[in-house]
Amino acid sequence: MTQPSYPALRLRRTRAAAWSRALHRENVLTPADLIWPLFVTDSDEEEPIAALPGVSRWPVAGIAARAREAAALGIPCIALFPNTQAERRSAGGEEALNPDNLMCRAIRAIRDACGDGIGILTDVALDPYTSHGQDGLIDDAGYVLNDATVSVLVAQSLNQAAAGADIIAPSDMMDGRIGVIREALEREGHHNVQIMAYAAKYASAFYGPFRDAVGSRGLLKGDKKTYQMDPANGEEALREVALDLAEGADSVMVKPGLPYLDIVARVKARFEVPVFAYQVSGEYAMIEAAVAAGAGERDALVLETLMAFKRAGASGVLTYHAAQAARLLNG
Ligand code: PBG
Repeated sequence: MTQPSYPALRLRRTRAAAWSRALHRENVLTPADLIWPLFVTDSDEEEPIAALPGVSRWPVAGIAARAREAAALGIPCIALFPNTQAERRSAGGEEALNPDNLMCRAIRAIRDACGDGIGILTDVALDPYTSHGQDGLIDDAGYVLNDATVSVLVAQSLNQAAAGADIIAPSDMMDGRIGVIREALEREGHHNVQIMAYAAKYASAFYGPFRDAVGSRGLLKGDKKTYQMDPANGEEALREVALDLAEGADSVMVKPGLPYLDIVARVKARFEVPVFAYQVSGEYAMIEAAVAAGAGERDALVLETLMAFKRAGASGVLTYHAAQAARLLNG
């Protein structure tokens, strides 16, 4: 195609009026693009999280109200993360398998309140339950064991599915876990329970506030580099995604979000499957810090960053700004 040149071509022409900008807009962001991560606590009170200004841990009694709020705003799905009491954490993370753990009680409370009016996504990994803060079982040297961990993750997934989870989201980055979790879900009759694989999850410096929120920061010694990905790698992300899809993932996730938009775009272009992005805690904290410093306006920063995910090809975004964004989008 031959392009006309200036002055026949003036790209500013279609930008001149709001109606025209609306007409030519290539992507739209709606509340239905959002997944709202929520933290749950065993205490009776709402607990504000200092590292995430504006975000709290909610008691089980209060979590259903948040889910109802999400549904009313048009947010289709919430993601749950428990802050397990210290005395319930152990080297083996056994609390993850307790049918009455915080996660399962929260799932049931939301289901009772909302029926199937909202999707419940649950994180599969052991870090909220281990006394050492790693996502899996460790050997004497502190190395996270793959296959032994996967067996526990299967049991954890079945525990969450039995409590009523709609989407199982393994965030652990063990090899081979999607296939065996899918097999176990099928065997137990959970045919419609989805798997959203944290397929390309990087060993990132942006998870700090989250670890405060689930209470694992002080416990964690060392890092997660033997299982989470090297931020230098892109091709490897495509291999991770290919494996998780081949093992039966219904959708895949890239995490963190904005610093890894290139990965979102590559995954979408290569696989043409639903790709989600997680705008993680450190990204939320950066926006809030910018706002507090007078360096930007919250509403605009939130909507611009979320639209960036849509432009990159994401089907949706997990974001702690979900409720605020939905309110803005709903006018
Ligand atoms: C743990 C998990 C993490 C996040 C989600 N699940 C942290 C980690 O891997 O250490 C991070 C989310 C965020 O920072 O918002 N399995």
